[in-house]
Amino acid sequence: MSHTLRDDDLSNPSTHDHLHDIVERAVALQPSRRRLLKAGLGAAAVPFLSGMTAVSTAVAATAKAAAPAERMLGFEAVAASSADEVVVPAGYRAVPMLPWGEPIDARGPAFKPDASNTAAEQERQMGDNHDAIEFFGFNAARNGFGDRSDEGLLVMNHEYINPEYFYAPDSDPAHWMRPFTAEKARKAQAAHGVSVVHVRRNARGEWEHVKASRFNRRIHGNTPITLQGPAAGQPLLRTAADPEGRTVRGTLNNCGGGRTPWGTYLTCEENFNGYFGWNGERKPSALESRYGLAKDGFGYQWHTADARFDLNATPNEPNRFGWVVEIDPFNPEAQPVKRTALGRFKHENAELVIAPNGQVVVYMGCDERNEYLYKFVSAGRFDRRNPHSAYNRELLSEGTLYAAKLDAGGVAGDRMGGGTWIPLVFGQHGLTAANGFQDQGDVLLRARQAADRVGATMMDRPEWVAANPRKPGEVYLTLTNNNRRSDDNGSANKADGSTAAGSARPPVDEANPRANNVWGHILRWNEGGGDATALSFTWDLFALAGQPGVAGARAPSANINAGNLFNSPDGLAFDRFGRMWIQTDGNYGNVGDFAGMGNNQMLVADPATAEIRRFLVGPSGCEITGITFTPDRRTVFVNVQHPGEIGNHPNAPKRADGKVFADNDIARDPTRFSQWPVKGMRPRAATVAVSRIDGGPVAG
Ligand code: FEO
Ligand code: CA
Ligand code: CA
Repeated sequence: MSHTLRDDDLSNPSTHDHLHDIVERAVALQPSRRRLLKAGLGAAAVPFLSGMTAVSTAVAATAKAAAPAERMLGFEAVAASSADEVVVPAGYRAVPMLPWGEPIDARGPAFKPDASNTAAEQERQMGDNHDAIEFFGFNAARNGFGDRSDEGLLVMNHEYINPEYFYAPDSDPAHWMRPFTAEKARKAQAAHGVSVVHVRRNARGEWEHVKASRFNRRIHGNTPITLQGPAAGQPLLRTAADPEGRTVRGTLNNCGGGRTPWGTYLTCEENFNGYFGWNGERKPSALESRYGLAKDGFGYQWHTADARFDLNATPNEPNRFGWVVEIDPFNPEAQPVKRTALGRFKHENAELVIAPNGQVVVYMGCDERNEYLYKFVSAGRFDRRNPHSAYNRELLSEGTLYAAKLDAGGVAGDRMGGGTWIPLVFGQHGLTAANGFQDQGDVLLRARQAADRVGATMMDRPEWVAANPRKPGEVYLTLTNNNRRSDDNGSANKADGSTAAGSARPPVDEANPRANNVWGHILRWNEGGGDATALSFTWDLFALAGQPGVAGARAPSANINAGNLFNSPDGLAFDRFGRMWIQTDGNYGNVGDFAGMGNNQMLVADPATAEIRRFLVGPSGCEITGITFTPDRRTVFVNVQHPGEIGNHPNAPKRADGKVFADNDIARDPTRFSQWPVKGMRPRAATVAVSRIDGGPVAG
């Protein structure tokens, strides 16, 4: 997700200098301190920083008369937990809402606790496995985009399904999904995509779903969507059902997201390849292999019942996924648009910022081991005087896509360096007909292969990108983990684009310094001159997750301690005050490398001091992903995805023979492991509204 981008975002709610600015000024006076401060605050930096904090606090105190100053980390950290519940700090409440299967509006069918709802019913219910989420406040008249904090539209992604909970068991005792049917494929497709939900905060401070509202809407795996931009109409996008290559059925694997200052939502298609497969024989093309298409996909079986997902029947259909899709939540009749100018890869999120000159910049990670970081820079410039104009609404249709190349900088081994953005433009940097690229649309459709050709840097699974609203040009990226990196010579994604997805084993480098990165890290960069359109940047590592007792190459950064252990940072977002919120999707086994980390969680970081504090822990087997705030920051909405995933959870249920439950077991006993969020029922992904009991700003 992202912060909103209205002008008031840059107004500091307190009057004191932001600590980061103070640190930057001090660094300017004593450049030798930069490395120490930016490396995560070693012991020697503490007296220096304590002094800065005191200055900051003293200034704040003089401005305090009217209202208490909002603090950066104004909450008590919570302990790790393996319990089947949401844990939040003392003085907070966390209320689940909008679970999978909830009727989308007043006419939607009720959820059936045995998971026997039909595909047609699922199309009128909340989708599954909530991910990115954005709150769009209404205007005063409650008919369009505005700044209300008490009523608006929650727009959220539904990434995928967990078949063991999604389908009521069928007739085959050995496999609850068998026989697999077209109806089952269609039901799964109906649970993907996006929900738009009208919500209102009542007099008691509780959030209600306004069911009798024209804004409630489902967009799913069979909703018509326009393909727009330079790749639209490409031969590789044409199918028998769509000979023009300009109208797709559906959006799938909706992972991270984003928002625009003109009031639209961005949903990002990630692991679309998992839904496709083929019946019979096929030798996949280099393009298909590079995007991870395989005979049986991820096991969803759609291709066995729906020819659209069988590459031997519809070979171009996968090319119509892997895009960023723009949705206008305030116009329920508007057809969503796949913006091909932003490139085709396994999109995580889309973090949008307006550069000083008005160009729109969208940062995007491609989430797979040893894939790349990208940014899009619009051709046109944002019209600040008419933010919702039709002109602004087309800014994502044309621009330049870049891939990031990182270097080690002037000092080897300091985990800092520089980098450049390389344009993925037909005719430049080897993106030529001689190397197999046909035109700009082809470059965008095969963005991974284009980035291979220009020598972009392979990263440890780029997940969410978040831009610091308090420091223009400063941007953060979660690198969730990577067990496919070699500590010797290894192998790179080949320049000719022929590497199968995930098969390279690159050596470690300074930005990805651990050979078996089981815990993940967070990289930060500063664009040249603080300008998001710059073509060069400097970077450092904000955090290396891990265990504080571990030394050497696997050692964590100094801001990791016994009180904030986590692994696999994934979701990442700033609130308007400048706090950075970190969400995890990692190993919840709570043993070995992961001891003391418990269930997946959400933490808050102060980007200036690099302090990280745990704010929330999720229920058993979930990941925490997707975050958004009301403009007044009195509610933070967070999504809980795949509660009840058994994995290696310490409370995993066991069969009579002592073995951990397999999917076929949990499908037949679905309340055995997790009953979150409704006691007595199967686990269901849901949104959680977190607020302070005294009504103050969250975390403040
Ligand atoms: Fe859908 Fe990379 O997480
Ligand atoms: Ca270096
Ligand atoms: Ca994610």
